Amino acid sequence: MSISTLAEYGFTKFPAARMPFMAESVEYFKKHKPYSGLKIVHNNHLTLSSICKLAPLLLSGASLTITVTDSLQASPDVIEILHEHGVNITKINDLKDDFDILLDCGAGLANIVHPRIGAIEQTQSGKVIFEKQNRYPVISVDESYVKKLETLYGTGDGFKRAFNCLVKEDLAGKKFVVFGYGKVGHGIVRELKKMQCSPIIIIEMDNEALNRARLENFQALSINEDLGSIKKHLKEAFCVITATGVPGVVSKYFSRQDISDGYKVNMGTEDEFGENFLAEDVLANKKPLNFILEEPTLVEFLDPIFYAHNAAIDLLLTKKFAAGFHSLPLDFDLNILLRWSKFHKTDVSEIYQFI
Ligand SMILES: NC(=O)c1ccc[n+]([C@@H]2O[C@H](COP(=O)([O-])OP(=O)(O)OC[C@H]3O[C@@H](n4cnc5c(N)ncnc54)[C@H](O)[C@@H]3O)[C@@H](O)[C@H]2O)c1
Repeated sequence: MSISTLAEYGFTKFPAARMPFMAESVEYFKKHKPYSGLKIVHNNHLTLSSICKLAPLLLSGASLTITVTDSLQASPDVIEILHEHGVNITKINDLKDDFDILLDCGAGLANIVHPRIGAIEQTQSGKVIFEKQNRYPVISVDESYVKKLETLYGTGDGFKRAFNCLVKEDLAGKKFVVFGYGKVGHGIVRELKKMQCSPIIIIEMDNEALNRARLENFQALSINEDLGSIKKHLKEAFCVITATGVPGVVSKYFSRQDISDGYKVNMGTEDEFGENFLAEDVLANKKPLNFILEEPTLVEFLDPIFYAHNAAIDLLLTKKFAAGFHSLPLDFDLNILLRWSKFHKTDVSEIYQFI
């Protein structure tokens, strides 16, 4: 089976209307072969939606090597589908250090491959490693508004779909307490507001985040100064949600008895309720709630990230970047964001609050 059929397979799973950036790339790359003559290595998750990310690169004229380092998700079904279409996964030990471009996720290949032109990194965790090297330019897709679109809108939407799946109650007029008003917390509160949950109490430690919440007319309390009132709200809460990025944050300040028997939700990557709470106290046994879903984040929100990760190759080829670490250039980033907003007829202006 051919690569064109692989692309078609991908878009039967995720129609072009859901992934317009990838659908457009497939057509463009098939026609123009923009990366002919380049040797590219791609190290990223291999989930079903990855097929749509890989399809344009496989049609781009480049010699593409695909790897998946241990910390990344690799679905055996997806590897099988790729095999059936003549696309093989290269073992890390079999890699030769002979590439022009490295497309990496979590800096899995940072110490193995030394690209002649440069690298593009997808995540925050990869930043720490790539920031230390100065032999070639690295562009980070994580430092961008498109990433904020995924975290703020995409994760908020994932929270809403998962919560509605488990809790079949009318949420209007119910009290929610949310720890953390960063990107994820803001996205969750945005969805709670749409569902007419009220009051929504925001707990923060950062003054800028507290002010942002107050400007939006939420009751925002400081974890450092308002412990007494926070306890009162926790006792009355219909639901307590965590999104601080701090493992065990609730147990640092509160006991199990301090919080009502209402719903408890963790949306952080690690368990944010901590040792004072049993796994069964928290929905989804303390795992990020949206991970109970087949699509924790809808592909609509991954499509622009996939696009930026692939298309930043053009930036490396056409612009002069010094060796070292770079954020995604603002004009490139905003152009993707505005096109996404048009494709999906969605106002994205709240994203600009996050600099
Ligand atoms: N579930 C998902 O799909 C998903 C997606 C993206 C990120 N995440 C995870 O969600 C978590 C939050 O990510 P983010 O991007 O919103 O981070 P962020 O840094 O933008 O926001 C975190 C906020 O929590 C606040 N905070 C820190 N300590 C606090 C405390 N003791 N009390 C109250 N507030 C406190 C910070 O001031 C900050 O405003 C991370 O663990 C991240 O990995 C989950």
